[in-house]
Amino acid sequence: MTCFSASLMCADWLHMERDLNILNKSCQMLHVDIMDGHFCKSLYLSPAFIASIRSATDLPVEAHLMVEHPEDFIEETARAGADYISLHAETIERQAFRLIDAIHAMGCMAGVVLSPATPFSAVEHYLDRLDMVTVMTVDAGFAGQAFVPEMLPKIRQAVQWKQMHGRNYLVQADGAVNKNTYGALFQNGVDSYVLGSSGLFGLNKDLSAACEQMKAEFAAATQGKR
Ligand code: DX5
Ligand code: ZN
Repeated sequence: MTCFSASLMCADWLHMERDLNILNKSCQMLHVDIMDGHFCKSLYLSPAFIASIRSATDLPVEAHLMVEHPEDFIEETARAGADYISLHAETIERQAFRLIDAIHAMGCMAGVVLSPATPFSAVEHYLDRLDMVTVMTVDAGFAGQAFVPEMLPKIRQAVQWKQMHGRNYLVQADGAVNKNTYGALFQNGVDSYVLGSSGLFGLNKDLSAACEQMKAEFAAATQGKR
């Protein structure tokens, strides 16, 4: 199943409810980037943001925690209404199992995110406990960066591992996911596409038109590729 996950840091926050009504019809998930200004050099969104959109959508909401100390925010993020909580591999080295268990204990699904420079082998020992694996295809922190093509073999590794071990976590790509990259991402087995500025919100000021364009571009780029 293909999943389109809209990255709300790129949305028009002044018209959030109007835009959620549109995204509810065209996307299968919502992606909320929570940044603390330390793990990456930006400040964005928060558990309170998730709580405020919760009443306007039934789509699963993923919290992508780009924070130095994710253990401090798991409970608050779960209580705010996140369905998936994704942690950066680089931040959980010494407490990966404990934090994944904490996410599940809160009734949420657990994800891990690999920054471009982090090898797939870093997460291998806890992969079978996960519900989602996200391969960042740009460095964390900003919209509008160039796609890192060296990430395609890493995506392939995540897909092959799950096939070899009979698991069914979602494999997701985040960063510069757009008409220029859909084809290669799809071919390498990506299930979930985080759509930010270049794939969705920057396409058209009218978000309904942008959604239609995104779906057409995805179909054109992926036709017959898998
Ligand atoms: C980071 C965000 C962005 C988002 C930005 O986690 O989720 O990377 O994809 O969109 P682009 O890369 O298209 O500007
Ligand atoms: Zn993200």
